Amino acid sequence: MSSKRLLHPERQLAYESGPFDRLTHYLFRYPAKFHPPVVKTLISEYSQRGDRLLDPFCGSGSMLVEAAVAGRHAVGLDLDPVAAFVSRVKTHLFDVHQLSASINLLSDQLHPLRRPDQEYLDRSFRDITLEELESTIADEDLWIPAIPNLFHWFRKYVILDMARVHRVISDLQIPPSHKDFLLLCFASIIRASSNADPVPVSGLEVTSHMKRKEAEGRIINPYALLDRSIAKAVPGVTSFSIKADRQITVSVHQGTALQVSTHLRRAFDAIITSPPYHNAVDYYRRHQLEMFWLGFTRTQADRLALKQEYLGRQSVSRNDPILKQQRLLGTLVSDWDSRIRKESDQRANSFLHYCLSMKQVFLQFEPLLRNGSPAVIVIGNSKWNGTEIPTVEILMELARPQFEISSYFWYPVKNRYMSYTRRNGASIDKEHVLVMRHTHASRIGNGNPWS
Ligand SMILES: C[S@@+](CC[C@H](N)C(=O)[O-])C[C@H]1O[C@@H](n2cnc3c(N)ncnc32)[C@H](O)[C@@H]1O
Repeated sequence: MSSKRLLHPERQLAYESGPFDRLTHYLFRYPAKFHPPVVKTLISEYSQRGDRLLDPFCGSGSMLVEAAVAGRHAVGLDLDPVAAFVSRVKTHLFDVHQLSASINLLSDQLHPLRRPDQEYLDRSFRDITLEELESTIADEDLWIPAIPNLFHWFRKYVILDMARVHRVISDLQIPPSHKDFLLLCFASIIRASSNADPVPVSGLEVTSHMKRKEAEGRIINPYALLDRSIAKAVPGVTSFSIKADRQITVSVHQGTALQVSTHLRRAFDAIITSPPYHNAVDYYRRHQLEMFWLGFTRTQADRLALKQEYLGRQSVSRNDPILKQQRLLGTLVSDWDSRIRKESDQRANSFLHYCLSMKQVFLQFEPLLRNGSPAVIVIGNSKWNGTEIPTVEILMELARPQFEISSYFWYPVKNRYMSYTRRNGASIDKEHVLVMRHTHASRIGNGNPWS
């Protein structure tokens, strides 16, 4: 079966390209986010007020935020604990006056801990000593996350500042949702407080650009970064809390989409999602500093256990159980598998793992959707050895026979925060929307959610 036969005529997706409501979309910099007007358009096109929507790869929760504002109930799932946390905070309805009181309390308690501005200037060239770090940790009984290679990622005085901020937030006598908001603001400054380059999205690296900046004297003041992050976040949560429909429920779960139908046992009116691309963003590596600082992973063993479940990852063990599955994959997958395998078994395993996983995800979607309800998939292409892998056609093939494509759109990538080109040359200028529908009657039947 050639890829051409799978293709429907592709149309450009029309969405409003003017200024849009920022809501809580910019509380945390998340790789490969939905462009908000695109997901807003997909929600209005493929669902109705009061419907229940699912995003099983919810990432930073863009779909959930837009769904709540558009009056749709929404459920999000993501394997990444940072993603699930970010999504939860971004979709929480805050009483902004009460939240401001908690922010003031934090500010009062942080005030005596701040170093003078001049010290931050001086510290750009001269860090504290290991002895000073260790004795302060002991004196103040500070919790420091067990990040491997900690001093590669952070200056020593920054570790102290961050541990103090973390301690103060954790000890504040405020509602748990306020604490989560403050921890999200804290999470959003971790990368900028570290030695890693905040710009490349695919992973986490101390780039030569950052080394140059260090040599020139880079000021890192976590308290000032936190002030800015909070000041930026408040208008977002205010706007979301005013505009979100109060009758709507949004829930977020952490778990794998490979078993989404066992996590969630009710029917949805639409799935709107953007799965990871094969070998594009390494979410596991990308979020490791945040995962440790937020206490989502306590040990390296915790993290390694999680790593095995990321879909689209580059390194896959040849004993991975997914690779043992005997599933019928189409000729396009087989062609690409043999092509890649000629050069590298390891890379071919990673590609096959992606395809087998996505096949399993589509099988999971089937019992979750009401009869005739769409699964709307947003995806780009990825490259292998300079050649574009036709991810869109491959997904169409994998979705069969449970789903047929009912529409197929493309749109130019706008401000989606991604820069894959730096890593694997994947296409960044065009993304695709596949609208799939069941090819046969649903097991649930119309309008009868599972209990
Ligand atoms: C393209 S991103 C989604 C971004 C999201 N649309 C947004 O606006 O933020 C893909 C997501 O898939 C998640 N992911 C990877 N493997 C997963 C799995 N097995 N189950 C669920 N989510 C997974 C990643 O953590 C990442 O957040």
